[in-house]
Amino acid sequence: MKSPDKEKAMIILFANQKGGVGKSTLAVLFSNFAVQKRKRKVKVFDMDFQQSLYNKYLNSDLLENEKLYEVELSSIPGFKSIRKRASQDPRILTVIDLAGRMDDDNLVPVLKESELIICPFCYDEYSVTSTFEFCYVVKKVNPDSRIILIPNRVKTSVKYETMESVNQALGQFGELTSPVSDRIDFQRLTTSYTPESLVPILDPIFNKLFDDHIEADQPWETETT
Ligand SMILES: Nc1ncnc2c1ncn2[C@@H]1O[C@H](COP(=O)(O)OP(=O)(O)O)[C@@H](O)[C@H]1O
Ligand SMILES: [Mg+2]
Repeated sequence: MKSPDKEKAMIILFANQKGGVGKSTLAVLFSNFAVQKRKRKVKVFDMDFQQSLYNKYLNSDLLENEKLYEVELSSIPGFKSIRKRASQDPRILTVIDLAGRMDDDNLVPVLKESELIICPFCYDEYSVTSTFEFCYVVKKVNPDSRIILIPNRVKTSVKYETMESVNQALGQFGELTSPVSDRIDFQRLTTSYTPESLVPILDPIFNKLFDDHIEADQPWETETT
């Protein structure tokens, strides 16, 4: 066993300066998946002033559902202490739902010191422009950052003329996953429950993320507890 300071803590950001692209939704789906399917311990921090993820968590708690993980409110300056806590137990996956805004100097260490940045986006013009700007800034701050782009709310009935050129433009910043379709079932999601109908869409995406980026060289992956 390696000494704890050599083991790498894993902080995963769900981020994009654009609102409504599915940051909070995918952060919850990802966290549910990590606990239920990959048997990982997860800690979630909601850094968005709208607190939508935290409120979801409180609602789920009211319904007395079994907790899959804790959700804590935090803010961008709180990152330093999150980083410290994460390195104390690298087996815990730290998931952060980041606020949309990019005009905060304290954001620099967050973007620099997170292992994975998951960036949901939609194929509409404003979302694409914002996403492009966001990725550009992230790469300026930290050229080594690992960005995963998730096309979200993709309508099967719509033909997106620009899809290929958008994929090419955004693809220079990181890896694109397969698209997530627009479905009403996303509304039924809670911090302790993932609707069955979403499983075939999301499990392949999240499994690949784990295999390629999260558990690629983790020593405890095969350990049984
Ligand atoms: N794939 C999807 N299909 C349908 N609705 C979605 C999908 N992804 C997100 N939503 C809905 O879109 C809205 C915005 O999502 P949210 O996760 O809050 O975005 P953000 O955190 O980026 O602001 C929410 O009402 C959510 O339920
Ligand atoms: Mg949100």
